[in-house]
Amino acid sequence: MKMRYYSFLAFYKFNKNILKLILVISQVFLFIGGANGQINKLNTELNQSTISTNLKYNLTNYLHFTSNSETTLLNIDSLLTFANSLSEEDYTVPSWTLLKMAVTSLTSQRNSNSTVALLNTLNSLKNKEMPYNIVCSINGAPTSRMGFAWFTNAGVNGGKVEIVQGSAIDSLAFETPDFTFNAKIDSVKNLNYNLPLNGLLGLAGIADSTKHSYTENKALATGLAPNTIYSYRVGKDNAWSKTGTFKTAKDNTDSFSFIYITDPQANAIAQFDVAQKTTNVANSMFPNVNFWLCCGDLVNSTGVNNSEWEYEQFFQTQQDIFLNKPWAVVTGNHDVSPNKNITHHFNTENTGFDLKNSTVPGSIYSFVYGDALFMAISFENYGKSGHLDSIANWMRRQVSAHPTTKWRIAFYHRSVYTGSTHQNNMDGKIIRDALAPVFDELHIDLALQGHDHIYEIIGPIKNKTLTKNAVIKQVSVSFDERYNLTGKSGGIFNVENGTMYFLNNSSGYKKYQPHSEYQMDTIETKIGLSNYFGMFNGRFGQDGIPTFSNITVSTDTIDVKTYEVNTLGISSLYDNFKIVKMTDVVDSIDPKETVKSMSFYPIPVKDYAYVNFKDPIDADVEVYSLKGTLVKLQHLNGSSQINLKNLSKGVYTLKIVSGSSNYKIKFIKD
Ligand SMILES: [Fe+2]
Repeated sequence: MKMRYYSFLAFYKFNKNILKLILVISQVFLFIGGANGQINKLNTELNQSTISTNLKYNLTNYLHFTSNSETTLLNIDSLLTFANSLSEEDYTVPSWTLLKMAVTSLTSQRNSNSTVALLNTLNSLKNKEMPYNIVCSINGAPTSRMGFAWFTNAGVNGGKVEIVQGSAIDSLAFETPDFTFNAKIDSVKNLNYNLPLNGLLGLAGIADSTKHSYTENKALATGLAPNTIYSYRVGKDNAWSKTGTFKTAKDNTDSFSFIYITDPQANAIAQFDVAQKTTNVANSMFPNVNFWLCCGDLVNSTGVNNSEWEYEQFFQTQQDIFLNKPWAVVTGNHDVSPNKNITHHFNTENTGFDLKNSTVPGSIYSFVYGDALFMAISFENYGKSGHLDSIANWMRRQVSAHPTTKWRIAFYHRSVYTGSTHQNNMDGKIIRDALAPVFDELHIDLALQGHDHIYEIIGPIKNKTLTKNAVIKQVSVSFDERYNLTGKSGGIFNVENGTMYFLNNSSGYKKYQPHSEYQMDTIETKIGLSNYFGMFNGRFGQDGIPTFSNITVSTDTIDVKTYEVNTLGISSLYDNFKIVKMTDVVDSIDPKETVKSMSFYPIPVKDYAYVNFKDPIDADVEVYSLKGTLVKLQHLNGSSQINLKNLSKGVYTLKIVSGSSNYKIKFIKD
């Protein structure tokens, strides 16, 4: 037995085909305890495999299977001895941790599942030079730039990104890359790897507070063409990543979409499993979104002893999404650490905030996508004198640099308004008092929030007051003190006179409960607000199920569809609301029918237009400017007057939408 092991180890060390060898072993072990017929089949497969003759001979001897269980046990022992003889410094940190887990599992559970798991893990061991935790980040203009960040083991440098136009089928596509950008590297020393809550001591025999050093690699691609698919790989010769693809943004105001998640905040494998299920379902449902956006708390641990293993899990459990979609993330309170893990992992710091008071470089940045200006904000240094003023001035500069962009979207972690656990926290009040007036001043249309792990729609708000008559087509549903405290769902929200504050529920495991109207009433004085519960103007509650939102932004509308993903990975629509921006919104009544015939007068139109239908129908009237901007929306039943007083003189398009029918008429406002 011992001789057999050493002979095998010698072959391992000297033959580069070892991974193939281990793959074959894994096939063999699948049949542990199986019948002789299966073993014969495996021997046949072994003889047909492409590994060297010597290795075949050795393997056949090594895996001399019979149905005798003693032989099986001996093979498990030798396999464990072999795995334990490997050296940590030869492999990447993540693949080594997986190996340690598999060894621990097989040591305690000597069964075929654990054996196959160890063989697969051996097969997946990554050479120490290989890149990992690869992240594509929006970095400046998404029409022409893309940021990349990845880790390698300490001392591994010389990394770069190679990019080719189109979808690369294999590595041959990179023989003559269209672009090569060398990585800037930084030595990241002694990051704390794991904490007791991570459970790695029991799962992998890795001691709590183990330290690892890494090389941070960041490359920035510039000069890319708009609306173009590119393929890329990161790493260096003999150590390339899988191929990723991304598409640059169009250089016009065409519609686009993105996934919005927040607060996955996992710290153990079971919690990462919940969070990755949400995102992987979102990715399979909406593979063509333009980017992903996360409002912070990517991981749970925080502070000087935070866990880099949690970041590693965050990336490893959804690596294909990070490889194939650009991300825009903001820093949550759980992401803050003097170790700056989040800064090491995202390539966003080239996009311009005055860092004087920021402890998290790269956490405040902006970009324009389609007809929307996005502003990523970190409030984590809210307590530093002058920091919130710096943010306000930075926001003013972003808006003045893009004055004609239709939509202004801010996203951040700590909620400006919320109805749950953090509602009466003083940080929220400080941030609200400093920034809500700036949101008013800059006409921020939509604020995407994080931090409170609950679903809530607040506003539109201006001067800390709910804008009246700004919502139409809302559905009344059952009130429930946990699941829906407003009894509302859906709706079209007009943000002409206020900001919509939207908090998606956590995409992960942890959930908070909603505060009741009574609870909110009792803290209004303390937090300096009135009619607080009344500000909750759409669906508001806690289902306890992870969610993600698919948000489509066009020049006319922001359409927000939110889905729950249950433990089986099955998704269902949770809420769908729309945001428009126009001079006024009028509600009406609603029987059902299809447009059959109609008349429209007078021509030209003065202050009022009239639409008459032959039969009573349920329809929407939308009026567009020549630029295609939606300037009026009205719900109709039968004949109706449309108030066009606020429109300036010019040519407009009137669109009638009823069911699947729609009619368009051009008219002149005189
Ligand atoms: Fe948080």
